[in-house]
Amino acid sequence: MRFSPVIFILLAATVTAAPLSFNRDIRPILSNNCYQCHGPDSAARKAKLRLDREADSRAELKGGARAIVPGNLSESELIYRITTDDTDEKMPPADSHRQLTPKQIETLKQWVKEGGKYERHWSFIPPKAAPLPKVKLKTWPRNGIDHFILTRLEAEGLKPSPEANKATLLRRASFDLIGLPPTLAELDAFLADKSPKAFEKAVDRLLTSPRYGEHMARYWLDAARYADTNGYQYDTHRNMWPWRDWVINAYNRNLPFDQFTIEQLAGDLLPNATLQQRVATGFNRNHPITIEGGIIDEEYRTEYVIDRVTTSAQVWLGMSFLCARCHDHKFDPVSQKEFYQFTAFFNQVPERGKQRFHTQRKSTSRQPCPIHQRTDRRGAKTGKPRKDHCPCSIALGKIIFRQTHYANVGQPQTKPNNRRHRHNIYSST
Ligand code: HEC
Ligand code: HEC
Repeated sequence: MRFSPVIFILLAATVTAAPLSFNRDIRPILSNNCYQCHGPDSAARKAKLRLDREADSRAELKGGARAIVPGNLSESELIYRITTDDTDEKMPPADSHRQLTPKQIETLKQWVKEGGKYERHWSFIPPKAAPLPKVKLKTWPRNGIDHFILTRLEAEGLKPSPEANKATLLRRASFDLIGLPPTLAELDAFLADKSPKAFEKAVDRLLTSPRYGEHMARYWLDAARYADTNGYQYDTHRNMWPWRDWVINAYNRNLPFDQFTIEQLAGDLLPNATLQQRVATGFNRNHPITIEGGIIDEEYRTEYVIDRVTTSAQVWLGMSFLCARCHDHKFDPVSQKEFYQFTAFFNQVPERGKQRFHTQRKSTSRQPCPIHQRTDRRGAKTGKPRKDHCPCSIALGKIIFRQTHYANVGQPQTKPNNRRHRHNIYSST
């Protein structure tokens, strides 16, 4: 293939324009073309060279060279290997059926020239405020975000759209914050309000609406795999709504994110944990639960633990842990070993795969459940503790029932009326 020098110059120019980011510009090139033989998989590694970690990329190779010598293109074996015409030495090797484009080669060269810095997985890098970019239309931006939007519009040769009329604005803000359109009365009041603070007041009204928490919570409920039923083949009821309401209230009372995290992961371990803090830990009970009779206890106990591990990683670490369950993987920033180190935190809950959340007590025990200080309903009726497991998972004391809707019937229910269903989250003291 032949490239005209003009194209090369253009490519080089576009490449030098923006500062390079390892995660955005470099990792994809190395990962797609090199990690197969120079990545985390020690069994497949060639020439004992790892290019997925900064320290290894600097190490002395067998012949005395180094893959990357920061800032020095001619000393960097990596650059030699991707630019040489010697087919015996060229990387990636021809028989790998991979090939770098001229642009990728330029990008790698520029990266090494700039110091060949690696970056951690993006979710481990604390966010930093970026300085506001300069814009031409200085009168348009009203806040920081506007500067970024306008910079991009101007780069594309576009002008901002004219401002929406008041009715449209309120409708958009309303959908955005509470998921519902404004009522006619709200719209009329907004149109009649000629003060410069009219919009601010409308937003404040929306933020204090209980609908705000309901709307915002939906995203977290999805991420935290909330469901009103247990999943698997019978998909029986579960009563998780107290946890759902906890999330809604967390948004409505503007609970700081660190508290939001602590209470869901370990609310029950806080000193003098409140009822609500214990309800928050329902987060770790959101996984599917089987009631299949013939299952292997340990298999499903393990599934539940793994579900907590992978969900916690997804929602709090901002990355998928799933593949590391079984093997190291070139795209995961965690190893299989680290996966099981993390698993250890969740692998100590006294529960069984069978019979769902029942605490794992000896079936001969005549003691009431240590958390509830009571047995199941049959025990309560006869006044005698039942022999087997307590049916409750999280001991909560008193919860005021509120009307709720179950997924499968769609009928309002104010209290449990199904003798067969177990109560995962409340006790009915
Ligand atoms: C299909 C496997 C394979 C792929 C893909 C591959 N390499 Fe290699 N690489 C090898 C083998 C085998 C050697 C050792 C033989 C040699 O030195 O040519 C090697 C050697 C090297 C060396 C020299 C190591 C030394 O000890 O001197 C460098 C540097 C290198 N590769 C860089 C890369 C880069 C950069 C990429 C991606 C753009 C890449 N390789 C992709 C197989 C691969
Ligand atoms: C439940 C266990 C398990 C999970 C989870 C898992 N893998 Fe695998 N994976 C395996 C096994 C076992 C093999 C080896 C299969 C074989 O050798 O035939 C494999 C092989 C692979 C291979 C082929 C490797 C090669 O060198 O040929 C790739 C690629 C891969 N997995 C990617 C992934 C990705 C991506 C994920 C996450 C989305 C993932 N795996 C999750 C068990 C798993």
